[in-house]
Amino acid sequence: MEPSHSDPSTELLDKDQHPPVLSFSEPRSLTLSVRASALVFEDPVSRQLLKQIERIAPSDATVLIVGETGTGKELVARHIHALSARRNGPFGALNCAALTESLIESELFGHEKGAFTGALSSKDGWFESANNGTLFLDEIGDLPLGLQAKLLRVLQEREVVKVGARRATPVNVRVIGATNVNLEEAVEAGRFRADLYYRFNVATVQLVPLRDRPGDILPLARHFLKLYGDRLGYKEAKLTTEAEQALLAYNWPGNIRELENAIHRALLVCPGDHLRPEDFKLTGLRPPAPSMTASTASLEHAVRQLCERAPPRLFELIEATVLRTALDFCEHNQVQTARLLAISRNVLRHRMGLYGLLPGHRPGTNGGGNHPSAPRSSHASAQGCCD
Ligand SMILES: Nc1ncnc2c1ncn2[C@@H]1O[C@H](COP(=O)(O)OP(=O)(O)OP(=O)(O)O)[C@@H](O)[C@H]1O
Ligand SMILES: [Mg+2]
Repeated sequence: MEPSHSDPSTELLDKDQHPPVLSFSEPRSLTLSVRASALVFEDPVSRQLLKQIERIAPSDATVLIVGETGTGKELVARHIHALSARRNGPFGALNCAALTESLIESELFGHEKGAFTGALSSKDGWFESANNGTLFLDEIGDLPLGLQAKLLRVLQEREVVKVGARRATPVNVRVIGATNVNLEEAVEAGRFRADLYYRFNVATVQLVPLRDRPGDILPLARHFLKLYGDRLGYKEAKLTTEAEQALLAYNWPGNIRELENAIHRALLVCPGDHLRPEDFKLTGLRPPAPSMTASTASLEHAVRQLCERAPPRLFELIEATVLRTALDFCEHNQVQTARLLAISRNVLRHRMGLYGLLPGHRPGTNGGGNHPSAPRSSHASAQGCCD
C-alpha cells in the first residue's frame, strides 16, 4: 500500500489486524479515530508514564516504546507525535514484521523506476512520505539485519537513498520504534545491531502490562463502555459490581486491546443494561497467584540467566541495578525511591553510597571499598535527551 496524504482521515485497515501499514492520518483527524479518542491514564504508574511521555514528546528524540501486545504502544506513539512540534506534519505507521525482506527496503526508502523487475515508476518510501513528521516503526526487533544498518544510516545522516538511486535525499523525520521483545536479548543473540539499539535507546518508554496497573482497569472499562455503548445505542449500559470484580481479578494477557474487545463483546451479548461476569467470557477468570505475577516471573527469569552466567559479585550487581532503576523511575527523588522500595531513606542513601549513586560520589567512596562500578542502566533516562 502506498503512503498517501490524499485521504487524511482514513484508517486504512481494521485496528485489530496487524497490517504493515496502519494509517497516514492528518493529526487533527486523530480525534475522530477510535484509537486515539482518549488516553486513559488513572493508575499512579500510568500517570508517571504520562509525565515521562510529556517530557519526551517535545524533544525530537528518537524514542523506543517497549511493551507487551495491546499495551498501547501505537497510541502512545501517536500521542508523542501530537504533543510534539511536528504535530502538523504526517504520522506514518509501519509494521516491520509484516513486510518481506525484499519489500521492506523499497517500502522504507522508496525506489527509482527500473530499480527491480516490476518497478515501473519511481516511488517515495515511508521516510519521504513522513517528511517533517513522525514515522512509527512497529516491531522494530523484526527488521532484518541488513536493513538495520541502512536505518542506522538514515538516523545518523538524515538522508535516504532510494533503491536504485545514486544520490541521497534529505529527510526530516522523527522515528519512534516499538517492540514487544527484549531488544537487549536480541542484541546479545546477534539479531539486533548494538549501535542501532543505542540509537533507539535515547529515550525509552516502558509500557506496563495492564495487570500491573490495576487502577486503570475500571476507568478503561468505563471508557470503552461509553465508546461502544454510544456506537451500538446502549447508552445506559453499566457494569455490575460482580463484573467489576471479575475484570479486576483477571490478568489480561492481551492487555488493553483484550479489555476493549471484552467490553465490546459483552455489550453485544448482554440481554439487559447491566453487564454481568458471564457476559465477558474471559478465558482465565482467576487472579494471578500473588507470589508469581508475570513481572515477577520475568524478573526470576532474568536473575536465573544471570545465575547461569555467574558474573562476579552477582548480588551487588542486582542490588545496584534495582537501586538505579528505582531512582530513575522516581526521577532521583530519594524520599519517593525509599518509599517505593519500602526501605528507610538512610538505608537507601547508604546503599547508594556503596554503588556510587549519590550525586557527586564515585563508586566505593562511601566506605564501600572494592565495590564494582555499578552497571549502567540499560534504559537511558529520557530526561533532556535530544537527537
Ligand atoms: N491509555 C489508553 N487509553 C485508552 N485506550 C487505549 C489506551 N492504550 C491503548 N488503548 C487502546 O487499546 C488498543 C490497543 O492499543 P495499541 O494498538 O496502541 O497497542 P499496541 O501495544 O500497539 O498493540 P500491539 O503490540 O498488538 O501492536 C487500541 O484500540 C487503543 O486505542
Ligand atoms: Mg501496535
